[in-house]
Amino acid sequence: MPFQTRYTGLIDRYRDRLPVHDDTRIISLGEGNTPLIRLNNIPRIVGREVDIYVKYEGLNPTGSFKDRGMTMAVTKAVEEGSKAIICASTGNTSAAAAAYAARAGITAFVIIPDGKIAKGKLAQAMMHGSVVIQIKGNFDDGMRLVKEVADEAPVTIVNSINPFRLQGQKTAAFEIVEELGRAPDYHCLPVGNAGNITAHWIGYCEYSSGSGDHVTEACTFCKGHCTYAGGAVVGNRPKMVGYQASGSAPFMRGAMVDNPETVATAIRIGHPQSWDSAWKVKEESGGWFDECTDEEILAAQKLLAEREGVFCEPASAASLAGALRDVKNGKIPEGSSIVCTLTGHGLKDPETAIAQSTRPLVNVEATLDQVKRAIMDNM
Ligand code: F0G
Repeated sequence: MPFQTRYTGLIDRYRDRLPVHDDTRIISLGEGNTPLIRLNNIPRIVGREVDIYVKYEGLNPTGSFKDRGMTMAVTKAVEEGSKAIICASTGNTSAAAAAYAARAGITAFVIIPDGKIAKGKLAQAMMHGSVVIQIKGNFDDGMRLVKEVADEAPVTIVNSINPFRLQGQKTAAFEIVEELGRAPDYHCLPVGNAGNITAHWIGYCEYSSGSGDHVTEACTFCKGHCTYAGGAVVGNRPKMVGYQASGSAPFMRGAMVDNPETVATAIRIGHPQSWDSAWKVKEESGGWFDECTDEEILAAQKLLAEREGVFCEPASAASLAGALRDVKNGKIPEGSSIVCTLTGHGLKDPETAIAQSTRPLVNVEATLDQVKRAIMDNM
């Protein structure tokens, strides 16, 4: 019965673990079910016996993990009768909000920092017909404004402070556990607002608790929307490790950062919205936060693209950059299994990719001679 296997998105797949009803109209673009790719070449280059997998979230419909949260947030907004959604964004949330609003037939307002989002993301928000409001300020200013607007106007916030977002995003942890047969020993993520690291922890806790009931009192994170019963843990859970860009690393400074700067514009965030829960995730899981310089981030992005054929955006590469450093320095011991989330696709930010490419373009006349010469010279 081949037709029964058609994949119709993560809400359908994990319906019994998500806050939807049988008659809820699902707003989906077939998100989730992304590849978990085992790295073959990089561990050899690093010279350590570790199993490193990358969860390629760039292969979601709008090219980032935000689609997991947005299918839930927009589905619930529509169910509650909302005609408009709003978000502040460093780019990916706005792309996802715009696409899912288009799918639902509602309006998306997106507030972005002027000149500080990658071109591909801007193109998405514009193409999907959202109202793009560029502010002379950063993401943190945008977030403040979104909250102020939503206090006065009938719009639903779809940033990760909307609890349904994290419910959708937790399914990435489900997929990983199902594919590996257990949780990894370490799960490494880039951290901006810290919604995603929180969502993954919810997912791992819920999955390992074995609960399928909407019993929520004991859950510290989900604000009443997940199925974690806080009961016996039957499976293992990973240490959660969050990497930030050095110029934008409030979790390393132990305080908010007012003027964050990094080439990884997706995580150019100084005032994380999930501050408290991310600290709890770190403590409960026995993990840690660390920072990567822009140079380390770009080097990891390039290494992954050149040695494994996987193209992620700069922010995503922070997870691998940090993980490789911690593998080399022994903080992550040999024999460990590690999952790094690649949060967004490399095509989101072609300008940064081209700018850091060291391979020269070979320009020749359109003749066989010249093309042959170019090939010989570059063998
Ligand atoms: N990686 C990418 C590619 C992102 O776009 C983001 C966040 C993160 C990592 C960090 O995730 O905030 O849950 O810790 N992007 C948001 C946006 C802020 O507006 O697109 P987080």
